[in-house]
Amino acid sequence: MPFDSLRSLRAFDSERPKAMSESAKRASRMGYVEAKDLHKHFGEVHAVDGVDLSVNQGELLVLLGPSGCGKTTLMRMIAGLEEPTLGEIWIAGERVDQDVPPRARGIAMVFQGYALYPHKTAFRNISFPLEAIGKSPTAIREAVDWAATMFGIRPLLARRPRQLSGGERQRVALARAVVRSPRVFLFDEPLSNLDAQLRAIARFELKQFQREIGTTTIYVTHDQVEAMGLGDRIVVMNKGKVRQIGTPQEVYDNPADTFVATFLGSPPMNLVEHDENTLFGFRPELFLPRPTFPPHEDIRVYHLRVRQVEHLGAGRLVYGYLEEESRSDQPVIAGLPVTIRTPIAEDQVYEFAVPRRAMRYFDRRTGLKRQDGPA
Ligand SMILES: Nc1ncnc2c1ncn2[C@@H]1O[C@H](COP(=O)(O)OP(=O)(O)OP(=O)(O)O)[C@@H](O)[C@H]1O
Ligand SMILES: [Mg+2]
Repeated sequence: MPFDSLRSLRAFDSERPKAMSESAKRASRMGYVEAKDLHKHFGEVHAVDGVDLSVNQGELLVLLGPSGCGKTTLMRMIAGLEEPTLGEIWIAGERVDQDVPPRARGIAMVFQGYALYPHKTAFRNISFPLEAIGKSPTAIREAVDWAATMFGIRPLLARRPRQLSGGERQRVALARAVVRSPRVFLFDEPLSNLDAQLRAIARFELKQFQREIGTTTIYVTHDQVEAMGLGDRIVVMNKGKVRQIGTPQEVYDNPADTFVATFLGSPPMNLVEHDENTLFGFRPELFLPRPTFPPHEDIRVYHLRVRQVEHLGAGRLVYGYLEEESRSDQPVIAGLPVTIRTPIAEDQVYEFAVPRRAMRYFDRRTGLKRQDGPA
């Protein structure tokens, strides 16, 4: 993508409503987008169940969680398409949840499935939001041309959505989102229709684009790799609640609970019973044959009875049971990179070790991380 052309987006900035000084003052103390104790109930279903979050200006915040955890509902409330049952939404220091309609919130949303108008050409799909606010035809042509160039879809502007591939439709939807020069982007799984290869490239491009343009962005995905790769910070959600907010490294290395520990990572964190109150957690890639560790490293050694070895090209997954654990009916997984060539055979016992810095403990009953190790 020609990132230089992104700078011209600033030219549209003058159209934004000037913020009042009071809200500007509040905005400097608050996040750019804030949700406070936000709830959405659909009858018995608590789709969003008391969410607090704060997005910094210019940040790319990723909402990550399993299907049905409330990601889309949360986004729709921020966009103004769904009314909260309870709670507050603030954008740029202004409370918006009660009487600021979607159009006035300065938000562009790209939906799951992108909702293009089937009977309009790609051009008109992109230009439509500008027509709706009464832009001149010349200004519209310039804006569409700029966005279409950025997403590499200029040759496709005369086609209708059904004449486009999934990836091309996605780009049309993204182009439509950027022409309005919004204050906030809400992206709801915008890459979900792309195949794995295209997805990695599109992810890279999207991040470059967001960094360059600097627009505050909330990005929804249930793909943890995408979340780790894209997010400045990640919000991990489950069942309508926020489980943890942090940088990708923080949520990966120090999961707040067993849900986060096992939702992130492939394979997930190993969890074995430590005692009747405590689960012991360690990442597969830090559970390695003992000789792998330098002599001065503080490690704890286990005997792993190997049941199965999978050769995955980039490494091996070794499945087995810890001989030390009294209730050793829980399998654990070791993830060995190709650089570790130790021969490992099934049905043998080997010394494996975990560095102490990588050992995590969780309360068995609540699943919450223990600050202080096992009770
Ligand atoms: N309009 C509605 N009426 C009733 N229930 C709804 C409605 N919209 C969403 N729900 C329910 O609220 C919960 C959260 O739905 P939501 O679409 O926000 O999940 P999601 O995290 O976006 O999931 P996915 O990853 O599958 O898109 C689900 O249990 C869903 O069935
Ligand atoms: Mg959804």
